[in-house]
Amino acid sequence: MARKALLWSMFMGLASFSFLLIHVYGEQPQVGQFSGGHYHDQMRKMQAIKASFVRHDSIALSPSISPSPSAAQQPPVVSSSRVYHATSYGADPTGKMDSTEAILKAISDAVQGPSEGSLIEGIQNLGGAKLSLEGGNYLISRPLRLPATGLGNFMIHGGTLRASDDFPTDGYLIDLSSSSNSKNEVNGKSSMDAQLSSSSSYNYEYITLKDLMLDSNYRGGGIAVINSLRTSIDNCYIVHFTTNGILVQSGHETYIRNSFLGQHITAGGDQGERNFSGTAITLMGNDNAVTDVVIFSAATGIIISGQANILTGVHCYNKATGFGGTGIYLKLPGLTQTRIVNSYLDYTGIVAEDPVQLDISNCFFLGDAYIVLKSINGVANGVNIVDNMFGGSDKGIEIVQLDQSNGPFKDIKQVVIDRNNVKGMNLKATVARGSANGEGNSWVVDFNNVLLFPNLIRHVQYSLSSTSSQFPNHALRNISGNRVQIQTNLNVSASVFVTVDQSVAN
Ligand SMILES: *[C@@H]1O[C@H](CO)[C@@H](O)[C@H](O)[C@H]1NC(C)=O
Ligand SMILES: *[C@@H]1O[C@H](CO)[C@@H](O)[C@H](O)[C@H]1NC(C)=O
Ligand SMILES: *[C@@H]1O[C@H](CO)[C@@H](O)[C@H](O)[C@H]1NC(C)=O
Repeated sequence: MARKALLWSMFMGLASFSFLLIHVYGEQPQVGQFSGGHYHDQMRKMQAIKASFVRHDSIALSPSISPSPSAAQQPPVVSSSRVYHATSYGADPTGKMDSTEAILKAISDAVQGPSEGSLIEGIQNLGGAKLSLEGGNYLISRPLRLPATGLGNFMIHGGTLRASDDFPTDGYLIDLSSSSNSKNEVNGKSSMDAQLSSSSSYNYEYITLKDLMLDSNYRGGGIAVINSLRTSIDNCYIVHFTTNGILVQSGHETYIRNSFLGQHITAGGDQGERNFSGTAITLMGNDNAVTDVVIFSAATGIIISGQANILTGVHCYNKATGFGGTGIYLKLPGLTQTRIVNSYLDYTGIVAEDPVQLDISNCFFLGDAYIVLKSINGVANGVNIVDNMFGGSDKGIEIVQLDQSNGPFKDIKQVVIDRNNVKGMNLKATVARGSANGEGNSWVVDFNNVLLFPNLIRHVQYSLSSTSSQFPNHALRNISGNRVQIQTNLNVSASVFVTVDQSVAN
C-alpha cells in the first residue's frame, strides 16, 4: 500500500502535475507508512497473543507429552477405561444383526462402573463413562434405556442407531425414562431398589447424547428425556420418526444443540410434503434450550408446553403453512414464558395460544410465514414481536394474525408489535403512525390496515400543523373503530400527525 502510493507520487511528479495535486498525492506515502507502522504494531501484538496461547497449550500438554518416570513404570490398566465399546459386547456395526442386547449390556456395564460420589443428591456420578458406538450402525428392536434411575455423567456417542421393522411404534430409540419395570440389576440392587434408594426427584442428570444418527425407521421416536436434569443432545441427526424426534417431559435444562431433525430426508420442495407428520421436538418441561437446530420435515417443528424455554438459531422448514404445517406451536395459554430469537421460519410460522410473556425477535420469516396469536380465554399479555423481517410474495398476507375462533381477545396488555420490516406482506403492529391533511374542520386517520387488534386504541398523540392566518382550537374527538378524529373550530388548511398505541397497559 505504502509502496504503491509512493510510486504514484513519483509518477505524478514526473508528469508535471500541479503542485497541489503532487502535494496531495505526496502525502499518501506518509499515510501509508503510518498505517503500515500501525499494521506492524498490530501484527506484533497478534504474535504476542498467539505466543501466549502456545505457551498455555504447552504447559497444559506437558504432563502427557513427557510422562513422568513413575507414570511410565505403570502400564495403563485396560480395565480402568470407562469407554465401553459396543462391538466389544458383540454389537454388529454393519446394522444387519439385532444389536439391542449387546448395547444394553454395554450400557449396563458402563453405568455399573465406579461411581464418584454424586451429582445432585441421589444421582450417582459415573465420572464421565462413555458408551462408544465406534462409528457403527446398529439395528435396535426395542428402546435403549438405562437399567436404573439415579445415574449421571454418562455419554452415548459416535454412531448410528436404527429401529428394526418390529420396533414398538410408541417407543424411542434412546429412552431416558425411569425403567421401573426393568428387571436389570445395578450394583447388586434391582432397579426398583435403586429407585427407592435414589433420593433424587430426577431420573438422570448430565446424560450426553452426542454425534449420533438416530433412524426411527418410521416406527416411533428418536430420544425421550423424561424427568431428567441437564441432558445434552449435541450434533445429532434424527430422522424417520413418526411421533417425536425428541420428547422432553418434566425435568429441566435439556439442551438440544447443533442438530438436524426431519421425518423424511429431504432438502425442501419434497413431493410428499403434504404428508409429513410427526413433531421434531416436543418440550413438555421448563428451562430447556434449542440452539442451532434445523428441522427439515415434520408436520410440526417444535411444540412447547412448558415454561421458560428458549429457541435460538432454529431453522424450521418442516412443512409449509400452506400444506397445514406449523413451525413452532406454543401450547401454554396463560403462562407462555418463551423466547424465540434469532431464528428462521421458512414457509412455516408460529402459533401461540393466549400468549403471556412471549418474545419473538430478530427472526426471519420467509415465504409468507406469519405469526398467529390464538385466543383460548382471550388473554394476550406481555408479548414482544419486534425487530423481525418478513418476506412474502405479495399475496397480502399479514405478518401477525389473530385466531379468535374460540372468542375474541379481551384481556390485552403490553402487546408490542413494532419495528418489524416487511417485503411482499402486510405489516401489522400495535404501534402506528399516520397523518391526514387538507382543508376543513375534521381530520380522520384510519389505522385499521395496520393495527392488530380491532377497535383498540389506548394512547394517542397528535400534532396539528396549519399555516392558516387564524389559530384554530383543536381537539381529539373520537378514537372508536381504530379511527382517530381531530376537529378544529374553524375551517383551516392543516396537516394532522397521529401516533397510536395499543400496547399500553391500562
Ligand atoms: C399422501 O398421502 C395420500 C393419502 O394417504 C396418498 O394418496 C398420496 O399418494 C400421498 N402422497 C405422496 C406424495 O406420498
Ligand atoms: C365516534 O365515531 C363512531 C363511528 O366511527 C360513532 O359511531 C360514534 O358515535 C362517535 N363518537 C362520538 C363521541 O362522536
Ligand atoms: C367549513 O366548511 C364546510 C364545507 O367544507 C362547511 O359546510 C362549513 O360550514 C364550514 N364551517 C365553517 C365554520 O366555516
